Amino acid sequence: MRDYHDFLQKKLVDESTLQARIESLGEELSRDYKDKSLHLICILRGGVMFLTDLMRNINIPHSIDFMAISSYGVGARQSTGQVRLTMDLRDDIQARDVVLVEDIVDSGHTLASVLELLSLRKPASLKVCALLDKAERREVDVPIDYCGFTIPNEFVFGYGLDIDEYYRGLPFIGVVNPELYQPED
Ligand code: PRP
Repeated sequence: MRDYHDFLQKKLVDESTLQARIESLGEELSRDYKDKSLHLICILRGGVMFLTDLMRNINIPHSIDFMAISSYGVGARQSTGQVRLTMDLRDDIQARDVVLVEDIVDSGHTLASVLELLSLRKPASLKVCALLDKAERREVDVPIDYCGFTIPNEFVFGYGLDIDEYYRGLPFIGVVNPELYQPED
């Protein structure tokens, strides 16, 4: 496995900027859900790092659950707009105040499908908290109620975002230099 320094073009969001923003998001959620039953739902796998740091910055009681989605498409990063539920939630969300936690919103298809699916289960409320919004790439309009950073259309990795399943554990968001990165077979 290659060292990320070999193809890192730049750090788009460094660790302290990331953590400061997550602290603010945690404060906002703590305020907004003070008298509610906050239930965070993380969409695997990319949302995991964000979820755990966000939880540490939420100072009201809250619960968590996980779901996994897979998109059909030609090639790993190509989205056709169709998604499939590969792992469902453990708990019922009826009458709960749900906040979906995502690492990145790109075309918006994943979020649109998940929102459609979850709203059928009659939560008391359903909001979205996404760390990164690649707004230029949007193909379907989706609401982002809590947004960490709006980012340009670049190949980003780290802090939950993978390159061929690696580098998710890095504490910052990096940009890949496409001239230096060769996918491994
Ligand atoms: C990423 C990300 C979102 C989705 C956003 O997941 O975590 O769920 O893509 O893309 P969209 O807005 O174009 O639908 P990915 O499918 O890469 O899976 P992962 O979280 O397991 O890395």
